[in-house]
Amino acid sequence: MQDNSLQAVVVGAGTMGTTLAKLMTAHGVKVSVVDTNPQVLETSRLRMGANADAICFTTELAVGGSPDFVIESVTENVSIKQKVVAQIEADVADSTIIMTNTSGIPIDDIGSAMRIPQRFLGTHFFNPADIVPTVEVVPDSHTEASVVEQACRWLKRLGKRPAVLNTCVPGFVANRIQHAVMRECLSLLEKGVVEVDALDDIVQYSIGIRMALNGPLCQRDLNGLDTHLNIARYLYTDLDARQEPAALLEDYVAQGRLGAKAGRGFYHWSDGSYAQHQAQERESLQCILEIAAQHSRGNES
Ligand SMILES: NC(=O)c1ccc[n+]([C@@H]2O[C@H](COP(=O)([O-])OP(=O)(O)OC[C@H]3O[C@@H](n4cnc5c(N)ncnc54)[C@H](O)[C@@H]3O)[C@@H](O)[C@H]2O)c1
Repeated sequence: MQDNSLQAVVVGAGTMGTTLAKLMTAHGVKVSVVDTNPQVLETSRLRMGANADAICFTTELAVGGSPDFVIESVTENVSIKQKVVAQIEADVADSTIIMTNTSGIPIDDIGSAMRIPQRFLGTHFFNPADIVPTVEVVPDSHTEASVVEQACRWLKRLGKRPAVLNTCVPGFVANRIQHAVMRECLSLLEKGVVEVDALDDIVQYSIGIRMALNGPLCQRDLNGLDTHLNIARYLYTDLDARQEPAALLEDYVAQGRLGAKAGRGFYHWSDGSYAQHQAQERESLQCILEIAAQHSRGNES
């Protein structure tokens, strides 16, 4: 749905800021994009394609005025985010709602020093933000209920599926689950139980394809909770439960094996293979979403 009445500012023009701005313009929201790095802004402008003309790109964080909302999507670092949020708050009207796209830093840690923390909340989008439907909406101790309701109304108007958490916990819901899965994956690699491509194949073509159709709890209902309990009884003592990141992950990052952007992570990547993978993934995600929606409609009838 087009909504030409809304005005928004996205602070941070990196991976997420760019797709957030894409999402807004696609829905007719008047958007400004701010980043302190002019090169990042230029890359963001180029990635925006034809929509770029409708967007104001600027290095000036003094956004001013009374946009309906500002989303900070800067580097995942609590002190940087605190400074950015303080600066945003100093510049905009008291009525502007301020959101953070943090992946899991507790919302109070970022916003509790604000003048009006009641207007601050977490809206955790997923990459690419213009395609993936879910947004975790995370209020914290100061957030007013009306602010949560307003944010959800706007998110729905942007075609999103807001999912409100009752309580803010580090990592929210999705990243807690993602990290629990990855802790076990890295442990299996470290123990030499399975090779990288076999692990990916097992997860993608078993649990992965099923979860595109059903959430984990619905999936367990379909399988039978008694069976799940029987497995849980013998398995949990053997699962990885360490309290620090895997040595394998520390080693890779220390070696510069940062993933596709660095040419090597678990796999080798070239600029071409990375770009092709990303382009194909956008198209494939749209197909998966259509199939998931059809499946849900089938369940309702
Ligand atoms: N990448 C993902 O998949 C993903 C998914 C969901 C949420 N997030 C969250 O979104 C946020 C942004 O992540 P990203 O992946 O886009 O990071 P990124 O590194 O691609 O972009 C961050 C941008 O913030 C800019 N920045 C830093 N300090 C600034 C300041 N003071 N003022 C203005 N701009 C500033 C940087 O120049 C950079 O362009 C993080 O909080 C991250 O955890 C990321």
